[in-house]
Amino acid sequence: MAHDVKYHVHLSQEMLEDARVAILPGDPGRVEKTAQFLDPDARFLASNREFTSWLATLDGRKVLVCSTGIGGPSVSICVEELAALGVTCFIRIGTTGAIQADIDLPCVIVTTGAVRLDGASTHYAPIEYPAVADLELTNALVAAVKELGLNHRVGITAACDTFYPGQERYDTFSGYVPRRFQGSLDEWQHLKVLNYEMESATLFVIASVFGLKAAMVASAIVSRARAETPDDAVLVEAELNLARVVKRALQIHIAQPS
Ligand code: URA
Repeated sequence: MAHDVKYHVHLSQEMLEDARVAILPGDPGRVEKTAQFLDPDARFLASNREFTSWLATLDGRKVLVCSTGIGGPSVSICVEELAALGVTCFIRIGTTGAIQADIDLPCVIVTTGAVRLDGASTHYAPIEYPAVADLELTNALVAAVKELGLNHRVGITAACDTFYPGQERYDTFSGYVPRRFQGSLDEWQHLKVLNYEMESATLFVIASVFGLKAAMVASAIVSRARAETPDDAVLVEAELNLARVVKRALQIHIAQPS
């Protein structure tokens, strides 16, 4: 029934078949590959704007894979609509820029909490409210990464509305970074922040405010201690690592008594 279909994601409760877990890549192009890695019989559900979704079955449970697009505003739409359809557990898989000099690529980073450099999360809770990941889901991600023997780090991520000035990139059209962000990369390094990405703060705050669970794992595609521009050569391995980690983490999570 048309009125049961959510406006942006183009999904209904019926289409989700009681899926309670959603894997959220940013890139619509990563959805099919991720879903089929979980389940070769996964099937396409819908595609509208940045929101592409497939449904997989893993260890007897339905798992939705739905892209969020880039940045907090589209994450907020995705989480709002999926939560209304009964999804309670969100795992973002993304790419990221590592900022600590001792992080060598390839590296998988599990985020425990996010610096709120976004705007969308402030529409849900004041800036003093923490952007923290769900502990059990995060533990499952960490266990999966360790089991797979991947180079990894666990800690704090700076989640930023812009890829360029907010992440202090100078190789840009204007070459200018506003004063607010000049020196910020150095400061986050001193404050032991591991990496930059663009969605985790919004996801964590909304999930916490709604009483839902969210976690985040990312593959580093650039070391900001060495370069500004991501390296496409590492993308294939980065994507495969994310699929392996999220699959194993979900198996661990599903096997736990609820
Ligand atoms: N995503 C980001 O937000 N920053 C990077 O450097 C790489 C991926």
